[in-house]
Amino acid sequence: MSNLCFRKKMVILMNKEEYLKSIDEAASYVSSIVGNEIPETCIVLGSGLGPFASMVNVTKSIPYADIPGFPTTTVIGHSGELLLADVDGKKLFLMSGRFHYYEGNELSVCTFYVRVMSKLGVKNLVLTNAAGGILDGMKPADLMIVTDHISLFCESVLRGPNLDEFGARFIDQSFVYDKGYVDLLKKIASDLNIDIHEGVYCYTKGPQYETPAEIRLIKAVGGGAVGMSTVPEAIVASHCGMKIAAISCITNLAAGLSKEALKHEEVLENAAKASENCCNLVLNFIKSI
Ligand code: HPA
Repeated sequence: MSNLCFRKKMVILMNKEEYLKSIDEAASYVSSIVGNEIPETCIVLGSGLGPFASMVNVTKSIPYADIPGFPTTTVIGHSGELLLADVDGKKLFLMSGRFHYYEGNELSVCTFYVRVMSKLGVKNLVLTNAAGGILDGMKPADLMIVTDHISLFCESVLRGPNLDEFGARFIDQSFVYDKGYVDLLKKIASDLNIDIHEGVYCYTKGPQYETPAEIRLIKAVGGGAVGMSTVPEAIVASHCGMKIAAISCITNLAAGLSKEALKHEEVLENAAKASENCCNLVLNFIKSI
């Protein structure tokens, strides 16, 4: 992309009217395909939840490339489609593939889909992710219910002109992750005999993993797991007034907590190991809400 083109793109992203118009266009496109049976819930299939799509009845699939304004995902293993599915007669949107800041996307681009979901009338967002485990007793392939997050180390996704049509300028962040959903996830995990952790997800920009010193810092301020997604999406969803649940698949012990160096292959391998529990947990959660 030429420098001029790049700057033009930046200007467009900062322009509130253009951004709102793109949200409307994307929402109209999606509703022209799914009709007026808009699901109440959207699930983001992070690492570990990939097989979820095969556990539900997928009725429509919309490539991100066809949705106006949607970026395409560059992460291997993230297919890049918005799926319409149903479980026990309940409709769902599944985001198969998400957009990360480390891919070079602006935060407004990473979270564009959340605004589109809100515009369509979606009320609940279920976020899943891969994360490095920090809490004592965590093992690779464990799961953690996210009860809160730390986003202080990164710029705010809400920086810039406020989108008043979605939410207020200064929003409370005391209850980002719905307490009822946390309790429900805990109960379902216990019914399914899944040992589960609960804790605070700390967001880092990536793509490099953290240093051991960074992990000591995060642990000291209460972080239970660390990862490179979820938080910008949760902040935007809370700005839109959505109810949020989030689950981390612990794919590795965070840097410095094991003797080994971190490898992306290990992350993928343990995400696959965690996926059966993660998919069952989310499936039963969806059936119960
Ligand atoms: N750090 C950040 N992101 C991650 C990690 C980690 O250790 N594991 C999976 N995603």
